[in-house]
Amino acid sequence: MITNDRFLKACRKQPVDRLPVWYMRQAGRYDPEYRKIKEKYSLLEICLQPELAAEVTLMPVRKLGVDAAILYSDIMNPVASLGIDFDIVPNVGPVIANPIRSTQDIDNLRPIDVEGDLSHVLKTIEILDRELEVPLISFAGAPFTIASYLIEGRPSKNYIRTKELMYSEPEVWHRLMDKLGDMVITYLKAHVASGAKAVQLFDSWVGALSPNDFKQYVRPVIERIFKELSHLAEPKIYFPGVSSGELLPTIIDLQAEVIGLDWRLSISEGRRRLDNRFAVQGNLDPLVLTAPMSVIKEQAKAIMDEGMLKPGYIFNLGHGLFPEASLEKLKELTEYVHDYSSSVLNPSAKEVNSNVQA
Ligand code: CP3
Repeated sequence: MITNDRFLKACRKQPVDRLPVWYMRQAGRYDPEYRKIKEKYSLLEICLQPELAAEVTLMPVRKLGVDAAILYSDIMNPVASLGIDFDIVPNVGPVIANPIRSTQDIDNLRPIDVEGDLSHVLKTIEILDRELEVPLISFAGAPFTIASYLIEGRPSKNYIRTKELMYSEPEVWHRLMDKLGDMVITYLKAHVASGAKAVQLFDSWVGALSPNDFKQYVRPVIERIFKELSHLAEPKIYFPGVSSGELLPTIIDLQAEVIGLDWRLSISEGRRRLDNRFAVQGNLDPLVLTAPMSVIKEQAKAIMDEGMLKPGYIFNLGHGLFPEASLEKLKELTEYVHDYSSSVLNPSAKEVNSNVQA
């Protein structure tokens, strides 16, 4: 049962007594216990075992004291149900056996069958719904980001084939966006029906597009996804990934509650570009975690000071945690975010505490 709903309150721009915090990629290789499990099983093998996937989801919640859990899975997992053969290769990322190159390849994609092919994901969510005291965020990869893997066949620096298809065969491109959009909508609705309390759409690489290209080639499907999910009471988060600051003014009408920001923009500037319509989440540069604790705290404080100027702020990183991050520093950062934000948002609680101690 959920006993800590600060994350959900902040998503809805409701007041909180201290800031909620979670970290993108909070389950991962920075944790020695996770690395031990990975010696035995691959990411996909963990996901196929609901009890284990639930345990891996819970580990960072227990260790770091964060205010939300994120389902242990990968953005690529649902594409298996469309008939795509892929692997997650350690230290590389998603690798596709037969990258999508033709109209025929796109026409061959099957509609997602969540209950048939991905029941292990729903089982994992059901277990977590019973065990968690903080809300569970489930997620999907957004159509552009997924398409970039399907078309390039592996992680890419400049998305050359993806953009080539987009510019040279726009009708085919939109058909692919629509199929991936349908996948996301069906997948996330099933997650919520199984107990997810919020959903995040990861569009990690869409910042590679100019605002005009984003509007023309990608925004229609993003709008449709959030419109079709808008009847759900659970908060919806759009993370337009890295270097997406220039795209923010183009998404102010999105039917989402929260927008994730990367670190190239301050929280206040992000809110301004979003016309103050959303709660915001972010945006410490994950690599700041390589710094001494005093520097990490100084940067986190500056971000929180802006975040707390208005209701609707969730502390997070501007992108995912990297394997070299330190569990100890993350623990200390989480405590610091809680303590510092509580001293600002709920100063009387601190006085009461210190009175009790005195
Ligand atoms: O955040 C979490 O803790 C939940 C789990 C999660 C994973 N992937 C597990 C994973 C989430 C939310 C994702 C999302 C994801 N996957 C994204 C969007 C977020 C982002 O970082 O922009 C993207 C682009 C992917 C695709 C992907 N999967 C990449 C680029 C990689 C990195 C390859 C590597 O080895 O560094 C993966 C692998 C992956 N997915 C790992 C984890 C924990 C690391 C490898 C592993 O532990 O097996």
